[in-house]
Amino acid sequence: MINEARPNICIWAVPLSRDMTEDDLNVLSVDERARANRFKRPNDRVRWIVAHADLRRILGVVVGSDAGALQFAIGERGKPRLIETCGTVDFSLAHAHDLALVAVANCEIGVDVEHLARHVQLDRLCEGVLSQTERSVLDDLETADRQRAFLALWCVKEAVLKACGIGIGTDLSGVSALVEPDVIRRLNGRASVALGSDTYVITIWQPNDEYVAAVATRCASSETKLLKWGQA
Ligand SMILES: CC(C)(COP(=O)(O)OP(=O)(O)OC[C@H]1O[C@@H](n2cnc3c(N)ncnc32)[C@H](O)[C@@H]1OP(=O)(O)O)[C@@H](O)C(=O)NCCC(=O)NCCS
Repeated sequence: MINEARPNICIWAVPLSRDMTEDDLNVLSVDERARANRFKRPNDRVRWIVAHADLRRILGVVVGSDAGALQFAIGERGKPRLIETCGTVDFSLAHAHDLALVAVANCEIGVDVEHLARHVQLDRLCEGVLSQTERSVLDDLETADRQRAFLALWCVKEAVLKACGIGIGTDLSGVSALVEPDVIRRLNGRASVALGSDTYVITIWQPNDEYVAAVATRCASSETKLLKWGQA
């Protein structure tokens, strides 16, 4: 499904508000069902099952395999990868509230999404999370825009750390986005992050009015197709 003639990054928006079906459970592995059963709140369990069942279905379509037969290897810090695929297929999953995003690419990819209703204590978090450059961008914004801007920058950092597989157990202020104030104000556009000798190209967007998301990649081309799972 992903080849050089087409965009090399596809991102599916997966609604998690639907009812869980028997087929969702059946498509999961024994380990995944056991993980789902560890959730205390039934809603969290259902959302997790729906997200992982649809993740499997999407990857099954991409690699041309039965969704239930896919096998994953988990990296040292938790990054899941597909085992035994022809060619390079990397993927990244993010979920927030009622929405999951599944990004698939033929190169390293990371995606994150945040629910904009989430309240952040900026005075407490900015110092440990944002770099000096990012804090200046935030300081130049209207107070009303700062919450949303912070969540966008959070997505950027998580997306980069998911692309390289490190996860957020690291110094987040060291993952600093170069981003125009207007991009962060509109929650839409491009940014970049230099990490060691690698540069990640970032796209920030809103999957819908309630969410902000970011995808990070080192692909030569970052042409991206946004899709809705379950729709043509
Ligand atoms: C990856 C991480 C940033 C996810 O953050 P989150 O906001 O809780 O959740 P999201 O919905 O955005 O993403 C979750 C998905 O990211 C993926 N993921 C987990 N760890 C990952 C990693 N290191 N790199 C890339 N992707 C990862 C999984 O698909 C996960 O889905 P699942 O939990 O439903 O299986 C966070 O869990 C993390 O930092 N993990 C690493 C912790 C670590 O450093 N462990 C090392 C042991 S010391």
